[in-house]
Amino acid sequence: MASSSSPHPISYKFIIFLLISTSLHLLASTQSKSCTNPTSSKPIISGNSTILSENKTFVLGFFHTNDESKWYLGIWYATVPTPTYVWVANRQTPLTSLSTSSFQIDGAKLTVTENQDSRCDVVWESIIDINIENNNNNEDNKMDVKLLEDGDLVVVDSGGVVVWRSFDFPADTFLPGMNLTVGQTLTCWKSDNDPAPGKYSLRLKPPDYGEVELLFNESRTYWSSGNWTGNIFSGVPEMTLPYIYRFYFTNPFTETATFGFTEITSQQKPLTRFNIDSSGQIKQYTWSPQTENWNMFWNQPENPCRVYGLCGNFGFCNAKSVLNPCKCFDGFRALDGTGWDAGDYSGGCVRDSDKNCENDRFNDIGDVTFDQEKVESSSGSRTDCERKCLSNCSCVALSYKPKTNSCKNYFGQVLNLGNSSSDLGIIQDSLSIRVPRGVNGKKIGAKTVVVISIVSCFVAVLLMVIVGFVVLRKKTLMRKKLEEESVFPVTNLKVFTYKELHAATNGFSEQLGHGGFGAVFSGNVDSTMVAVKRLERPGGGEKEFRAEVCTIGNIQHVNLVRLRGFCSEESHRLLVYDYMPNGPLSVYLKTGGRNLDWDARFRIAVGTARGIAYLHEECRNCIIHCDIKPENILLDQDFSAKVSDFGLAKLIGRDFSRVLATMRGTWGYVAPEWISGVAITTKADVYSYGMTLLELLGGRRNVEGPPDGGNGGESNEKWFFPPWAARRITEGDVAAVVDERLGGEYNMEEVVRVGLVAVWCIQDEEVARPTMGMVVKMLEGVVAVEVPPPPKLLQALVSGESFRGVGGHSQNGTLTGVSYESKDSQPAD
Ligand SMILES: *[C@@H]1O[C@H](CO)[C@@H](O)[C@H](O)[C@H]1NC(C)=O
Ligand SMILES: *[C@@H]1O[C@H](CO)[C@@H](O)[C@H](O)[C@H]1NC(C)=O
Ligand SMILES: *[C@@H]1O[C@H](CO)[C@@H](O)[C@H](O)[C@H]1NC(C)=O
Ligand SMILES: *[C@@H]1O[C@H](CO)[C@@H](O)[C@H](O)[C@H]1NC(C)=O
Ligand SMILES: *[C@@H]1O[C@H](CO)[C@@H](O)[C@H](O)[C@H]1NC(C)=O
Ligand SMILES: *[C@@H]1O[C@H](CO)[C@@H](O)[C@H](O)[C@H]1NC(C)=O
Ligand SMILES: *[C@@H]1O[C@H](CO)[C@@H](O)[C@H](O)[C@H]1NC(C)=O
Repeated sequence: MASSSSPHPISYKFIIFLLISTSLHLLASTQSKSCTNPTSSKPIISGNSTILSENKTFVLGFFHTNDESKWYLGIWYATVPTPTYVWVANRQTPLTSLSTSSFQIDGAKLTVTENQDSRCDVVWESIIDINIENNNNNEDNKMDVKLLEDGDLVVVDSGGVVVWRSFDFPADTFLPGMNLTVGQTLTCWKSDNDPAPGKYSLRLKPPDYGEVELLFNESRTYWSSGNWTGNIFSGVPEMTLPYIYRFYFTNPFTETATFGFTEITSQQKPLTRFNIDSSGQIKQYTWSPQTENWNMFWNQPENPCRVYGLCGNFGFCNAKSVLNPCKCFDGFRALDGTGWDAGDYSGGCVRDSDKNCENDRFNDIGDVTFDQEKVESSSGSRTDCERKCLSNCSCVALSYKPKTNSCKNYFGQVLNLGNSSSDLGIIQDSLSIRVPRGVNGKKIGAKTVVVISIVSCFVAVLLMVIVGFVVLRKKTLMRKKLEEESVFPVTNLKVFTYKELHAATNGFSEQLGHGGFGAVFSGNVDSTMVAVKRLERPGGGEKEFRAEVCTIGNIQHVNLVRLRGFCSEESHRLLVYDYMPNGPLSVYLKTGGRNLDWDARFRIAVGTARGIAYLHEECRNCIIHCDIKPENILLDQDFSAKVSDFGLAKLIGRDFSRVLATMRGTWGYVAPEWISGVAITTKADVYSYGMTLLELLGGRRNVEGPPDGGNGGESNEKWFFPPWAARRITEGDVAAVVDERLGGEYNMEEVVRVGLVAVWCIQDEEVARPTMGMVVKMLEGVVAVEVPPPPKLLQALVSGESFRGVGGHSQNGTLTGVSYESKDSQPAD
């Protein structure tokens, strides 16, 4: 056994030596293209020199990622401390050292070279489009290289004409002012540390060139934007949120189609970029100097499981697990463990043991969707089906239908494995995967049995000792000790062991929901119901966790969900909360969902405001919730509102972009300052609260459309409710906004107050929004509420062409678009 599994060391070394020497030889032969004597053309930059754009926004220079022996010529933001590269020249052919690197114009070419002694290797070149007529006998045609403020590296000829620009050769980043034209693609980096082109790219979709699409392996479309309608793509209505950008698409549906966007000039331009990341999603970010982070506020496909091949072969994709979507089944492990941990799942999963494949069994994984290269169908009994699969080691899974005796054996790669019809896989079947015998407890391997018997022996002896010595006293002593230990000193938080919570939640069997930070399970502690939140990929160490938990535990208010305890054991981080029997507010806002009478709604509005006001104003350290929305407002047995999930942003580290990334599809709640990258204050919560109030009033969601809008193309229309509602409210027609399900049964005075407060909260300017404390007073009627000005940005939305185009379809019943369209198309000011 041992000798067969460990090969002879020398033979291995020899093979590796051979491989290295041949590949070195290959590299050398492909790279040592001759170049003109480097001294004859003065380099634009070499070594550690750089070029800055006029106002020092961008830098051109040589950089490396985590490997100091790989250097690239690139452009990055000069003022952003975390290096963010927007363009790379020699993506696939790194330079080996900084000191020998240079970038120059060499005849009619731009070249990146590595110069050593007399040798000079060209690692990258790009032909400059020189007009022959202007270039009669060169010499006096002096070309100039400049890095512009928008990040465009340009070559200008003596006549001032731009003859080459880096914007024509995009890498993975799309910047304001850049154009996407027919034939151009943006291609992701292979991984966060490797600029070589990865598998995902973006382009204008042929043959019509009327929309953009994301592609896997330059061939398979996994997301497309929908056709251009005049000022948006039909599948991306949120493009109309005209906070700071304007999108243009000149000559759509022609060969000269050109798509791009610009910043609407304002006093302060935030840095912004679109990026195709190595996990296949397109994301838009703005830089927030306050948090020193890129705030991601838009991404597609929203469902990561719709990225083709995201989890690789045999990787199971679970979109609900936002931070960690890919899993390997029992009996499998990630092929590339470090890549996997860093979020590059493309290596997929491989069998955990290299045991003889004949000794396998099948593990039922239930109803899943997937894509499969090769299927062999037959009929017969289940045993026949299994035997058939087992007889060939390249058979990896089977599905069997007892009713029809139909058997399918699957061969080769299994891609896009998922659990939801909104995932990418095409085949939907109840799958049994082939695993080594001994996996998943059904038949335990010999080694484990031995260990278990030793352990149980030991336990038995121990038990006898315990029983023999301390039958009664021990019990009382232990209980006392446990109680002392498990009450956390500063607060009244109880410390749970993982085992206790595992038992309390019945093995985490009953999932209540899934928030941005992890799944929530129902449980039972001391015969009271609790909600146990299992944090995903928690950042920071045990100490930080305890400190944060302690802070949260100290925050107690009748309108905040109470934290009862926690568990921090090895990699497990769990929080135990009071259970809220009436669930989240969002449940009551669904079409066809349960109804709430006006009285309950008003109490929820006031209670929520009190809870947030307490977070903002009354506890020791001001807490910005960052994620106020109906999913995070829970209702207790009396339908009193309790705000949940506060303070958690810190628990997963100070990574605000992560926090935003988890706020999937909630752009309808995000205050403009999130997007424009300026400092976030408590007023961001006020904005989200205002948006939530509108939903409570209208008994509907602000954005209505398919729940998993990631699929582009078909019936992907959405309607944005707030502009319409805000307009009605400021015009004095609150009744039009109120949920029809109330049947007119409400207190008009309260309805008016709630409506006006909502519009005050969603004012564009932070200073115009009331504080949460003021909101409480306004709702309670302690202070009078004036009619607020209509929020400007929403006005722009309403009068936009797109609103009519998109909204017109999805409105129903009384919300017909006809009456307000004519009004709203009048100038706003
Ligand atoms: C650049 O390199 C030169 C020598 O190669 C060195 O003297 C100089 O300090 C370097 N400059 C920076 C900013 O690192
Ligand atoms: C650079 O900044 C100055 C002063 O703010 C401004 O006038 C100028 O237009 C800027 N240049 C570019 C290229 O943006
Ligand atoms: C992008 O396209 C627009 C409109 O076609 C054009 O005006 C602009 O000059 C182009 N910009 C670049 C950098 O090519
Ligand atoms: C990508 O496409 C090429 C050619 O179109 C094909 O040979 C290759 O197998 C594909 N790779 C994957 C991973 O699908
Ligand atoms: C196993 O199945 C594959 C795919 O159907 C086939 O190519 C191969 O010949 C089979 N091997 C044996 C030993 O039957
Ligand atoms: C798929 O979803 C169902 C129901 O949501 C769940 O019971 C099952 O365990 C899931 N399958 C996998 C492989 O996660
Ligand atoms: C987009 O437009 C093209 C050309 O007009 C048309 O063929 C295609 O069906 C349209 N796609 C969608 C999703 O409407």
